[in-house]
Amino acid sequence: MPTDTKTEKRDPGPDLPVVKMHLHNPKAPGTARVVKSEICTAGRRAAGFVRHVELDVSGTELAGRFRAGQSFGVIPPGQDERGRPHQLRLYSIASPTKGEDGSGNVLATTVKRTIDEHWDDHSLFTGVCSNYLCDLKEGDEVLVTGPNGKRFLLPERPDEHDYLFFATGTGIAPFRGMIQDLLDAGVTSRVVLVMGSPYSSDLLYHDELTALAEKHPSFTYLTAISREGEGKVYVQDRIGTHAETLVPLLEDKRSLVYVCGIAGMELGIFRELHARLDPGRLGRLLAVDQEAGDPTGWNRKMVNRQLKPTRRMFLEVY
Ligand code: FAD
Ligand code: A2P
Repeated sequence: MPTDTKTEKRDPGPDLPVVKMHLHNPKAPGTARVVKSEICTAGRRAAGFVRHVELDVSGTELAGRFRAGQSFGVIPPGQDERGRPHQLRLYSIASPTKGEDGSGNVLATTVKRTIDEHWDDHSLFTGVCSNYLCDLKEGDEVLVTGPNGKRFLLPERPDEHDYLFFATGTGIAPFRGMIQDLLDAGVTSRVVLVMGSPYSSDLLYHDELTALAEKHPSFTYLTAISREGEGKVYVQDRIGTHAETLVPLLEDKRSLVYVCGIAGMELGIFRELHARLDPGRLGRLLAVDQEAGDPTGWNRKMVNRQLKPTRRMFLEVY
C-alpha cells in the first residue's frame, strides 16, 4: 500500500554529528601498521575467510579522528591489468570511536577474502585488495586514506532513539563499533542486532556479541542462518519470527534502522517492512511511491526513486 510521502519529506531525521572526512586522499595517503590479524569467523570450518585486521594509525591524520560507522580506504600495491596503480578499496571501520586501544590510534576492519572462479575462463579469481589485506602480517605497513562517510553514523543524541541493526557478512563491521559506542555511553535505548550468515560457523564476532548481549539486557543479538537446518533464514525474516518485539520497535517513532552488507538485502528488508508494518507507520522509515507496484517486482534500481528510505533508515550495501 502506498504511504504518505509528503509527511516523510518533511522529516529531517535525527541530527548527525559533523565528522572529519578525506584527511588522507590517494595522492597523500597515510601509512598505517598492522598490529593484529586474526580469523574472526566463529568456526575454523567457515565457508568464507574473514579476518579481523587492526591497524595502528598513530602518526596519520586518521588518529583520533574517525567515528564508528565510517569507512577508510586501503591502497593495495601494484598495478591493474592496464598498468595503472591499483585503486583504493573502502573498508568499514569495525572499531568504536575510541578505537581498539581506547584512544583512537588503532582501528580495526573486517575483511572477507574475495575468492571465486573467473567469470570468463573459470580460472581462480582472487580479489586484489581483500587478499592483500588478509595476507598482511603484524608489523607490515599499509597505505590508508579517509575517513569516509558522513551519514552512516549514530545520531548526535543517541539516548533519544532505539536501534535495529541488520547485518549480513562483513556488514557487521560498522555495527560492532556503533554498538560498542552505544553501550559505552550507557544509553538506555533498546538495541537489536540481526546478523545473517550462510552457516553458524560464519558468524563474525559471535562470542563477543553473545557476551555483550548477556552483559547488557538492553542489547538483543539475533542471528539468521541461510544454509543450515530447516530452511533459508534471511535477516529480514526475523521481523516475522520475532514480530512481537520487532514490529513495535520498527513502528516506534524513536527507532532508527541501519542496514549493512550484501547488495540487495535492503530490498528484502523493504518488502518485509511493507508487509508487516502498519501503512501509516511504514512511512516513517520508507516512502513507497504508487508506481512501485507489487513488492515482488521491486528491484534495486527503484531504491531512492520509487522506494525512498527516510532519514531514519541508513543503508550501506556493497
Ligand atoms: P577486486 O579485485 O576489486 O575484485 C572485485 C571485482 O571484480 C568485483 O567488483 C567484480 O567487478 C569483479 N569480480 C568479482 N567476482 C568476479 C569473478 N568471479 N570473475 C571475474 N570478475 C569478478 N569489504 C569487506 O570485506 N569488509 C568491509 O568492511 C567492507 N566495507 C566496505 C564499505 C564500503 C562503503 C564499500 C563501498 C565497500 C566495502 N567493502 C568491504 C568491499 C571492498 O571495498 C571491496 O570491494 C572488496 O574487498 C573486494 O575488493 P578486492 O580488491 O578484493 O576485489
Ligand atoms: P545465501 O548466500 O545463503 O543466499 P556472507 O557475506 O558471509 O556470504 O553472508 C551473506 C549472507 O546474506 C548469507 O547468509 C546470504 O545467504 C545472505 N543473503 C544473500 N542475499 C540476501 C538478500 N537479498 N537479503 C538478505 N540476505 C541475503
